[in-house]
Amino acid sequence: MIDDGYLNLADHDSFANGIPHKTFARLRKEDPVSWTEGDDTAKGFWSLTRHADIAYANREATLFSSGQGIRIEDQSREEYLARRTFQETDPPEHSATRRKVNPAFAKPIVARFEELIRTLACEIVDKALEKTEFDAVEAIAKQLPMMMLGRILGVPDEDLNWLVEKGDALIGNTDPDFTQHVIDKVDTDAYRLMPFRSPAGVELYDYADDILAGTKPISDDGVLSKIIRDEDGLNGLDFKNFFCLLVAAGNDTTRYSIAMSLYLLATQPELLKQLQADQCWDTVADEVIRLASPTMHFRRTATQDITLHGKTIRKGDKVLLWFVSGSRDEEVFTNADEADFARTPNRHLAFGQGGPHVCLGMHLAKLEIRIVLEELVKRITSITAISEPSWTRSNFICGVKKLDVRVEVKN
Ligand code: HEM
Repeated sequence: MIDDGYLNLADHDSFANGIPHKTFARLRKEDPVSWTEGDDTAKGFWSLTRHADIAYANREATLFSSGQGIRIEDQSREEYLARRTFQETDPPEHSATRRKVNPAFAKPIVARFEELIRTLACEIVDKALEKTEFDAVEAIAKQLPMMMLGRILGVPDEDLNWLVEKGDALIGNTDPDFTQHVIDKVDTDAYRLMPFRSPAGVELYDYADDILAGTKPISDDGVLSKIIRDEDGLNGLDFKNFFCLLVAAGNDTTRYSIAMSLYLLATQPELLKQLQADQCWDTVADEVIRLASPTMHFRRTATQDITLHGKTIRKGDKVLLWFVSGSRDEEVFTNADEADFARTPNRHLAFGQGGPHVCLGMHLAKLEIRIVLEELVKRITSITAISEPSWTRSNFICGVKKLDVRVEVKN
């Protein structure tokens, strides 16, 4: 589908060739509070596309609630209660759980992983570079987040491929490369009480049940063990849904951000030179994430009538905060569509900054991106894309899912 500036944001095919930036640019300019009609499967929704409006709605959680679902899909109360995590709640309820899980992801705690991440990154990059041509998403971008997810959760390494496959099926539930149960193509009613309405949710619930029952051994150092041990921690369904959230959120997002960095290096050789000149290691991860913005939107629900730019959002209406658009708002970013690895300040919104739900894993994701890039650029003289990348089919999660490259390694 060609992005003529008028693509339908409800249609996953509008995103199948990459993010429709022209459409977002037009909306930011002409229609910053735009309405998309619904259909038989889902009610219509509002889209906020300007940086300032997204930041406002994200901050004002009492007006724009997460407590009725965070994706476009309409949920019955039964579905909502069965599937919700703390991400689908508002303060103060949200704050109570957030306090429990936050410490494990705090910057100084995550910084302790630097050495481990570097060891893993070296292994991954060295293995990938044994070949001169390979799919950089599979060989590099996918590997580090997967291994780190294992360390963070404390689950056995031999389960990681399986867990990532299930995580892909959850979050990629609109892409036939990741699931046979494509949510807008087949009837998924049987799974309506499962995370992401996906059969993979059933399998992940079973896995989480085994952890709870003690039949699946997990490491004492991981987040899951701490949460189970904590007398004030998460139990039963809350634990299972939190587990699914981490498997889904902690994996693909970082993969697609690393994939974006590889895509940029493979198509703009000057960026490799810039990194090799050692100029921008403090800023590169944020710029990559700004441009990748893998979770393109999250939804809120208006708790009262709200007037914005002359439009009235009615109580109960769904409102999408398009972080991906806000992070390219030309009012905030100079040359917003261009990669500037030294960009500072970088007020992108890709982590949902400024709101109560700001990404729990952001320090981990940034560390992984920086280190894998450091280790890659040390070892190569060039990286070139040798075919067109393929993109996820989803209006929720965006990323390069395949990127064939040719590399030249330093002598
Ligand atoms: C580049 C990588 C990542 C991006 C772009 C990203 C993006 C986001 C965004 C936009 C939100 C806000 C959601 C909302 O407003 O409702 C969020 C929340 C969250 N993220 Fe991430 N994420 C990334 C990596 C991770 C990682 C590595 C983990 C865990 C290991 C993680 C776990 C979470 C969790 C648990 C939440 C919910 C927080 C809450 O509701 O308080 N994310 N993420």
